[in-house]
Amino acid sequence: MSEKIVLKYADVPEQKNIGTYMKNGGYKALPRALSEYKPDEIIQLVDKSGLRGRGGAGFPTGKKWGFIPKTSPKPKYLVCNADEGEPGTFKDRAIIEGDPHLLIEGMAISSYAIGAHKAYIYIRGEFAMGADILVSAINQAREAGFLGKNVLGSGLDIDIDVFRGAGAYICGEETALLDSLEGRRGMPRLKPPFPVVVGLYASPTMINNVETLANIPRIIDNGAEWFAGIGTPHSTGTKIFCISGDVNKPGVYETPMGISFKELLKMADGIKDGKKLKAFFPGGSSTPILTDAHLNIEMDFESLKKAGSMLGSGAVIVLNEDRCMVKTAARLVKFYRDESCGKCSPCREGTDWLAKVYKRIMDNKGRDGDIDLLLSISHDIYGTTFCPLGDAATMPVVSSIKYFRKEYEEHINGKCNHTDN
Ligand SMILES: Cc1cc2nc3c(=O)[nH]c(=O)nc-3n(C[C@H](O)[C@H](O)[C@H](O)COP(=O)(O)O)c2cc1C
Ligand code: SF4
Repeated sequence: MSEKIVLKYADVPEQKNIGTYMKNGGYKALPRALSEYKPDEIIQLVDKSGLRGRGGAGFPTGKKWGFIPKTSPKPKYLVCNADEGEPGTFKDRAIIEGDPHLLIEGMAISSYAIGAHKAYIYIRGEFAMGADILVSAINQAREAGFLGKNVLGSGLDIDIDVFRGAGAYICGEETALLDSLEGRRGMPRLKPPFPVVVGLYASPTMINNVETLANIPRIIDNGAEWFAGIGTPHSTGTKIFCISGDVNKPGVYETPMGISFKELLKMADGIKDGKKLKAFFPGGSSTPILTDAHLNIEMDFESLKKAGSMLGSGAVIVLNEDRCMVKTAARLVKFYRDESCGKCSPCREGTDWLAKVYKRIMDNKGRDGDIDLLLSISHDIYGTTFCPLGDAATMPVVSSIKYFRKEYEEHINGKCNHTDN
């Protein structure tokens, strides 16, 4: 069940050195892409593979690449989103630290496909080691002729720079990321225009997640049909799940899309201390909570959507029977309140109100009507904000009330007896 594509060599010692990467089949896809395919043919190949973005929204990558205007006189840019700020997510870091050349090769091919000569990796500030690893791998790739001027004698210039963020969650949102990359305070931009048309320096820009880009060399190496044959018909390939919380073996697990949550839990060696499963976030803190009733759910875009949640970034956070769901939601609401950029009032004010109501509930000062008040504030935030962070803040609130309303009532009546409080 554990067919690995992206993390296949990530545990190999010295994989981050170009020699080892090449010994393991690396830098074969780039020369093939440059010599055997026209840029449009690569876009078609990626489209045919069914690859969907791994940054959260799951938009088809080939389709998105196709939106880059061909006739624009402006330079085109590729930006790799390595901000990885979603609570529970640590998969991009595993790629960057374990197999940086796979990402670099994927970015060189993707730059060729969309007609970009300059690409950036926007990496979260806390990933200091990852940034150093990337800079050193980029230097190796330049020296070997895979990046820089006249890549492999093709006449094309393709280069990559690493840019370190300063630790703001909102800078993972693609337009806030662009503002930050341009040297301003990271705040989301109004869309449309979308970055594919007006992005970095007002030029056409493709923004893709690390895991998305790391799949590209494998698709060139093995073909679109091979990739489309892994996973499910509409969620092709593998997914790297980051499992954290109350499990025996937290970590990154790459499996074909569509694996059941139950299987995934088994891979992480089950719930810690012989406890029972209570709930889980299937794709990071921005995805609605599911419960032990969803043990057999298939972990892919469609199945999770059908169950009222999302695959998100693939960050599976597991909670055991002792966890207080009110405390869990309160903690996350505080996170979103702190990370709200403040640009629009429903999110700026709404997350603060949510946090205030949770605080009084947690301080045993909850009032009758507070549960409905939380739902009403969430309702006023949802769909009214400038970017999806506002919606995300409501997810733990609404889903925890949907499944665990009784726990809220117990809290308000001073009867919560969860041991993690
Ligand atoms: C608040 C917020 C934070 C985000 N953080 C990230 C992130 O850390 N990494 C990422 O790849 N995408 C993140 N996204 C999604 C990006 O805006 C964008 O959709 C993604 O980078 C596109 O890449 P993909 O098509 O390869 O998935 C975030 C979105 C929002 C609203
Ligand atoms: S929803 Fe929140 S994070 Fe997004 S723009 Fe509005 S205030 Fe900023």
